[in-house]
Amino acid sequence: MSEVLTITDSRTNKEYKLDIQDGNIRAKDLRQIKVNEDEFGMMSYDPSFENTASCKSSVTYIDGDQGILRYRGYPIEQLAESSSQLEVSKLLIDGELPSNDELSKWVNDIKEHNSVPNEINDIIGAFPKSAHAMGALTSLEAALSTFYPESKNITDEDENYRSICRLIAQVPILAANFYRHTQGLPIVEPDNSMDYAENFLNMMFKGDDNKMHPDLVSAMDTLLILHADHEQNCSASVMRNVGSSEPDPFSAVSAATAALYGPLHGGANEAVLQMLTEIGSVKNIPNFIEQVKKKEVKLMGFGHRVYKAYDPRAKYLKEAADKVFSVTGTNPLLDIALELEAIALSEDYFKGRNLYPNVDFYSGLIYESMGIPKDMFTVLFTIGRTPGWLAQWKELLADKDQKIARPRQVYTGYDSRDYVGVNNR
Ligand code: CMC
Repeated sequence: MSEVLTITDSRTNKEYKLDIQDGNIRAKDLRQIKVNEDEFGMMSYDPSFENTASCKSSVTYIDGDQGILRYRGYPIEQLAESSSQLEVSKLLIDGELPSNDELSKWVNDIKEHNSVPNEINDIIGAFPKSAHAMGALTSLEAALSTFYPESKNITDEDENYRSICRLIAQVPILAANFYRHTQGLPIVEPDNSMDYAENFLNMMFKGDDNKMHPDLVSAMDTLLILHADHEQNCSASVMRNVGSSEPDPFSAVSAATAALYGPLHGGANEAVLQMLTEIGSVKNIPNFIEQVKKKEVKLMGFGHRVYKAYDPRAKYLKEAADKVFSVTGTNPLLDIALELEAIALSEDYFKGRNLYPNVDFYSGLIYESMGIPKDMFTVLFTIGRTPGWLAQWKELLADKDQKIARPRQVYTGYDSRDYVGVNNR
């Protein structure tokens, strides 16, 4: 039996019946609600998309009240425990866990694209050594599109597959080569005998055996898995919005990376470290919490649009951190983070607003212990998230419901008025 929502417009006393599908109404069905026939019709006003589903998706499931996250139905904890970033990427992009043969082909296809054009390294050399890594990465991803003009043929599935492989293979190379440039170190070529996370760490730190410890390599792979997708967050929405005007995927990934850069999104991992450093000592926490409660500052790494419970990624990371610290030694900022969390979770301000640690609260501490510089933290998030963006993009291209993304507005400006020359204003 079809379900309907009945709305009565108090202005006209007219009754409207709106179809309910999957528990929701279509915003466009509101258009029939109008006082006069020549009106545009009603819209729903939803700044920041707090209550708007922009697509149907089968990639990632979040239950924000229960703190549940699944990729294609698989609990994130099981994938973090048993899978690898490339296997998870294949799962996200194609929908199923690959067979042995499918996985080897996928890994080999990515390795086949494991190098960037030489000119990209010239561009990297032109960046100031002090440049923020995310600014450089955003530019470099867009620059890649100029070397692969055929990637504009987004109706060609083989071309799209090549672009997907290139992006997954080359974003870590852009990141590592930029890092080497900032350090005045020569580039380390990718090593195809290595797994994905190991190859990345090797391109960053070759020769520094402490940073290549197998437990750290495994932790890096886990971190990438935990960041691989998170449904319609700010950067994924940007990926889809930009993708909807049908540019090449390198340009769309660059735009998504820019969205991730901000401190309210992926940039929070760097901001957390900054905050913990500024707090400096456990004894300063109560004062800091008072500032948060007065809304003078935010507790970075806390809160989430969807989770109103503990972020399952943060929970997993908090437990996994010990494995890293047993190799690197404890991060002195960990005590501050643990105490900050304990105090925050006992305060009415945070309890009343359901504010819990999110993925960025502990990830920065782990990265720092692994010897990753602060301005590379969000770059690591980008490497992890690239397959998720590509899965969202692929789903968008196949979705017949999707057109160019183009929100409406509620205009609040002047009515028509006549131009006045500058001397008469
Ligand atoms: N510290 C202090 N107060 C907060 C925080 C925080 N981190 N987050 C939310 N609040 C308050 C907010 O001021 C508001 O209070 P009130 O009801 O009195 O106006 C209430 O909690 C609801 O917050 P909101 O601003 O409506 O929440 P939102 O869904 O718009 O924002 C958020 C979500 C993640 C942007 C926000 O919680 C935040 O800025 N957190 C800090 C930055 C951060 O850690 N970002 C990483 C997000 S998770 C991973 C990722 O996306 O990369």
